[in-house]
Amino acid sequence: MAKYLMAQENSRIIPKEDKIFGINKLAKEMIAKEGKENVVNATVGALLDDNGDLVVLSSVVDVLKNLEPQDYAEYAPIGGTPEYRKHIIEATFGKFKPKSHTRALATPGGTGAIRNTIENYTQRGEKVLTSDWFWAPYNTIAQELERKLVTYTLFDENDNYNLSSFEEKVKEILEIQDNLVVIINTPAHNPTGYTLTLKDWNGVIDILKKYSKGKKITILADVAYIDFAGDEDKYREFFPVLDDLPENILAVVAFSMSKGFTLYGLRGGAMICITKNEDVAEEFVLVNSFSARASWSNCPRAAMKVLSSIYEDEALLAKVKAERKKFCDMLVKRGKAFEQAAVEAGLKTVPFDSGFFISIPCKDPDAVGKELQKSGIFAVPLAKGLRISVASISEELCKTIPAKVKAAMS
Ligand SMILES: Cc1ncc(COP(=O)(O)O)c(C=O)c1O
Repeated sequence: MAKYLMAQENSRIIPKEDKIFGINKLAKEMIAKEGKENVVNATVGALLDDNGDLVVLSSVVDVLKNLEPQDYAEYAPIGGTPEYRKHIIEATFGKFKPKSHTRALATPGGTGAIRNTIENYTQRGEKVLTSDWFWAPYNTIAQELERKLVTYTLFDENDNYNLSSFEEKVKEILEIQDNLVVIINTPAHNPTGYTLTLKDWNGVIDILKKYSKGKKITILADVAYIDFAGDEDKYREFFPVLDDLPENILAVVAFSMSKGFTLYGLRGGAMICITKNEDVAEEFVLVNSFSARASWSNCPRAAMKVLSSIYEDEALLAKVKAERKKFCDMLVKRGKAFEQAAVEAGLKTVPFDSGFFISIPCKDPDAVGKELQKSGIFAVPLAKGLRISVASISEELCKTIPAKVKAAMS
């Protein structure tokens, strides 16, 4: 029996309501009934201050408010303005600008970069690989594009990055297909907060090289949280690993202005390739511009102008970085407080480094989530555990929540 009236399902699984937005709605309803002080909404994927208000960098807002109409009203070129395409490379790599060929194209947020990478570097029906803890829209995008998202186990039994599971999946997939896109979200992975070490990265690359003979592999580094992980240089130290790949392994970096510039709604982002082969770089521009034209056409010029203006003015850039650092320090403190309180409460979390989220592995995440809701705590149940957004709760709450989660689990 057809489930849809006029629409075609096209082999996608389309939920009636997005899970996170659904729980967020419940939290809001409870706030309306019981008052803000009695509800902890740890579902939000945006940085909130200790009062629960969205953090917006005032230094960035000043730039936005001073834009001239032509800065936002006019169409931007499909791949982005030339200034943006130049400065986004600086914003992404910082001190670690690759020596290989790089090309940047504007995308609507990091989401657009993920979409275009899957579209252009795999064929319909093929598998795309990521870890078993993953950001749900990877699956949404893969389904929409008629690909299949498959996963490797992120952590081994000693809570180390699970290179053997990664290898097993790479080998298995490349036995049946000639192309592979691997998505790695680091630093400050959503939903665990894990950051791949240089050793992890080298292991990943060695495995890809081992199975790459006669194949085309694309490694997509989703760095959506890079500017809220901690020290800007330390968290960019892995980029050189992507600068020394054979020609049949392409690196693509998905950059987002949503978190780093607190402009979630302005849809600024970019996809940047790193390759030793200039023809591959030119092809990257060609095919991804085509896909952009076919899906969103061009991206908001305002976001590009804001980023370009910031990078064209040293003092302004320093101001943005200083303001961002203040909030990044606040976030890092929350994460540490949560980790510490989890240890004290005997609550196991998955290996956490930094970022917006911490996850707690558990058997029946939906049931634990519902139990927590009884005491006014809202978190997101995932397949393998519960995701808590430390980005949206105060340091004080980070100290008390772990004991409550532990109680709800038992
Ligand atoms: C893991 C991950 N990747 C990418 C994104 C991209 O976000 P946007 O499209 O807003 O840049 C997000 C946003 O939540 C995310 O969590």
